[in-house]
Amino acid sequence: MAAMQILIFAGSTRQQSHNRRLAAAAADMARELGAQPTLLELSDFDIPMYNADLEASGTPPDVLRFKAALHSHPAWLICSPEYNGSYPALLKNAIDWASSPVAGDAVWSDGTLPFRGKVVGMASASPGGLGGLRAQSHLAPLLLNLQCWLAPVSHAVGQAGQAFDDAGRLQRPQDQLGMKAVLEQVLWAAQRLSA
Ligand SMILES: Cc1cc2nc3c(=O)[nH]c(=O)nc-3n(C[C@H](O)[C@H](O)[C@H](O)COP(=O)(O)O)c2cc1C
Repeated sequence: MAAMQILIFAGSTRQQSHNRRLAAAAADMARELGAQPTLLELSDFDIPMYNADLEASGTPPDVLRFKAALHSHPAWLICSPEYNGSYPALLKNAIDWASSPVAGDAVWSDGTLPFRGKVVGMASASPGGLGGLRAQSHLAPLLLNLQCWLAPVSHAVGQAGQAFDDAGRLQRPQDQLGMKAVLEQVLWAAQRLSA
């Protein structure tokens, strides 16, 4: 059986981001589980703030590139920060652009195409005790609205400043087990849905 391709990205572009660190650690774990991870950095995409007038003059090329990255992976893991009890504007903006139909385009005129049927796992990391759990509770309905298959198991890494060792690995057993459980469930479901 071909290795499952899983797209992993964080909703942060901060250099020392806990969620970027979590995404990188998850990519290593996914590889150990036999999957083929793609670690995507939102900073590699030049995506402006969504504006329908701007869109009317042409969808930015990097939005199309982001749509294609989402669509080409049957499984995803999103590692989201928590801002004010929700997920950050960076993530919302990227998803809004990616879900917006491209008028007249043979492929992307279908706005939900990059999302529909994808198996998505959620994780979060925060310096706080809840580990960004409330961001997940807002991200979940958005993903369901876009017809993603949301994995019921998720994980939140609390006290994220102490969660990683110098090599970027999760050092607490509960975080290792929690992230492994999310990845296993996403890969399990994605294999079955794409069979
Ligand atoms: C505007 C703003 C709001 C925040 N609100 C929350 C919050 O509601 N809950 C929380 O746990 N952390 C909150 N934080 C702290 C973030 O969790 C922290 O900055 C975290 O490191 C961001 O994720 P990152 O490390 O992946 O960039 C907030 C940070 C900012 C800048």
